[in-house]
Amino acid sequence: MPASASVSSLYHRVSRFIPPAEWMGFEDDIAAILDLKKKRNAVILAHNYQTPEIFHCVADIVGDSLALARRAVDVDADVILVAGVHFMAETAKLLNPGKTVLIPDMEAGCSLAESITPEDIALLREAHPGVPVITYVNTSAAVKAASDICCTSGNAKQIVEGLGARKVLMIPDEYLARNIARQTDVEIIAWHGHCEVHELFTADDVRQLRENYPGVRVLAHPECPPDVVAEADFAGSTAWMSDYVASEKPGRVVLLTECSMSDNVAADNPDVEFIRPCNLCPHMKRITLSNIRAALEHNQHEVTIDPTVAVDARRAVERMLAI
Ligand code: 13P
Ligand code: SF4
Repeated sequence: MPASASVSSLYHRVSRFIPPAEWMGFEDDIAAILDLKKKRNAVILAHNYQTPEIFHCVADIVGDSLALARRAVDVDADVILVAGVHFMAETAKLLNPGKTVLIPDMEAGCSLAESITPEDIALLREAHPGVPVITYVNTSAAVKAASDICCTSGNAKQIVEGLGARKVLMIPDEYLARNIARQTDVEIIAWHGHCEVHELFTADDVRQLRENYPGVRVLAHPECPPDVVAEADFAGSTAWMSDYVASEKPGRVVLLTECSMSDNVAADNPDVEFIRPCNLCPHMKRITLSNIRAALEHNQHEVTIDPTVAVDARRAVERMLAI
């Protein structure tokens, strides 16, 4: 089958979200990417916030941060391209030091990762001697290296309780820390980082949604402020939200998270009505089909981690995966 014919056959996966004229502009890049993946023995790991043409048409492995980290461990390929943000690519590199890990745009960052440095952690340790430091994966490798263990939104409570400590430092997302603190007896000391996407949702938004869309089921990411999470019907990682929709099949749902998530979940759940007040993550949106293609064509941009940092950062990630 010619590449163009096999690419056209992918359109049904995304036809509800991408008009035919826009799709025509994607076909050439999709065909080239599928071809390059074979030639380079490459796999594409895509986060749930990637646009539908990436998520449903070129990605090999999709999921939340935890799933991407877990699946990265046993990737059988020479090249791993991460369609996501920089900390996700660093995590993939930590778990695959011998493989080439590419990110199509080095500027795809994260406001949480920007909010804390290893020096901040040193000061926190001084102020709270002996208290273990749990670091959200949305951080640089250097920050991971300065901490005891990582967590994601998908396993945060488990990690907080699994350490057996009465008190923990949980950095850098203040809202995730406060949302978890409500579910556990472990005392949590938070940092003041916020996700620039999730901090925009308000409890008033939730009340308005319920008024305007009777019966709507409200699912919130735990990076949302605690009063938003308190008003929601369910809170969990992006994978948890996706699983909730697939298993509960609510008539109407709203996902208080990044915009592309609703498209990606809606594609697999055509009978569910999605209400879509969402906020764009400008960092996730830096990844496009054309820069994925360029990344595979020109082997750019290769993610490297200082080996002295990598040893300790890997330990923090592997410790998380072991729990
Ligand atoms: P998840 O781990 O829930 O996918 O979240 C990652 C993220 O960046 C959320 O903003
Ligand atoms: Fe970072 Fe928020 Fe974007 Fe996720 S959505 S990558 S936490 S800025």
